[in-house]
Amino acid sequence: MMKILVTGGAGYIGSFMTKTLLDKGYEVTVFDNLERGHIEAIDKRAGFVKGDIRNDNDLEIVFKNKFDSVIHFAGLIAVGESEEEPDLYYQNNVVGSKKLFDTAYNTGKINKFIFSSSAAVYGNPVKIPIPEDHPKDPTSAYGRNKLEIEESLSRLKKDHPEVSFAALRYFNAAGATLDGLMGEEHVPETHIIPNVINSLLKDQAFSLFGDDYKTKDGTCVRDYIHVLDLVEAHLLALKKLNTNGAYFYNVGTGRGYSNNEVIKTVEKVSGRKVNVHVSSRRAGDTDELVADPSKIKTELGFVPKYSDLETIVRSAWIWHTKQN
Ligand SMILES: NC(=O)c1ccc[n+]([C@@H]2O[C@H](COP(=O)([O-])OP(=O)(O)OC[C@H]3O[C@@H](n4cnc5c(N)ncnc54)[C@H](O)[C@@H]3O)[C@@H](O)[C@H]2O)c1
Repeated sequence: MMKILVTGGAGYIGSFMTKTLLDKGYEVTVFDNLERGHIEAIDKRAGFVKGDIRNDNDLEIVFKNKFDSVIHFAGLIAVGESEEEPDLYYQNNVVGSKKLFDTAYNTGKINKFIFSSSAAVYGNPVKIPIPEDHPKDPTSAYGRNKLEIEESLSRLKKDHPEVSFAALRYFNAAGATLDGLMGEEHVPETHIIPNVINSLLKDQAFSLFGDDYKTKDGTCVRDYIHVLDLVEAHLLALKKLNTNGAYFYNVGTGRGYSNNEVIKTVEKVSGRKVNVHVSSRRAGDTDELVADPSKIKTELGFVPKYSDLETIVRSAWIWHTKQN
């Protein structure tokens, strides 16, 4: 049976990936420093090594074990924080990822990698929907980190042609299991769906960052992908890696929803009115980010099943109500 190392497996997307891989019969080891993740989110069937991708010793230890591939989720993820602490983000995301890839290749003899990249590599789109060959001009330190990590994989492949990798550029991951038993919990939380829902559950106002964007209703437009669909995209990418290559795929639906539509959908699902407080724009936010998902559809047969906004919000609502 295939053995997979999941870095960041105590986090939101990594914990879903771990569970699904185990359900499919893969053997999984999670590697996470638990700085932003939750130990209780790691499936009990997985092995767990507490370690940091910046730490050579931690990496040498984990790669004494044999794995067939690495799925690399570990990283710091908040765009605003990356602007305030660019050095921390560079060390953690770029330097850490390079150490991970080098040790995985040299010590672990691994040549298959999947990396959690982001739509943030594109920056302000010059064209919507955004195809993979769109210019890369990130507007945040976080986005620049993601681009540099992709480049580091490309270099590894150039030096060692047997390396096969997929960089999946996620648009906005969202949602929970349909029974609401697993879901999203970031500290700090910067994502709109959990923040709108929590404003209701905590009886607080919801801060909407700007309503003067150049979009249909003035609020930012984003492409939401249900975390269960996102995990499915990784399973398809994992199979694709058997055909040696350097693969870059957008993971989105091709349909954008505005922040106002997100708020309205939370109101519909919860039956409650959100107390919206419009505040100033957040640094690094672009008007509209919508994927052109045709490449992953054509090459991998990826078709999202759960990514309509109402299904996403309904699952998230059940999860968050269980947490409060
Ligand atoms: N959530 C999204 O919408 C989204 C969108 C695009 C890309 N991504 C990328 O997907 C990945 C996972 O995102 P998430 O939402 O699950 O984030 P998350 O914060 O829930 O999980 C990240 C995990 O990585 C761990 N980690 C961070 N730095 C580490 C280090 N130096 N060593 C070991 N472990 C470390 C954290 O403890 C955490 O458990 C990230 O790389 C993120 O940039 C996420």
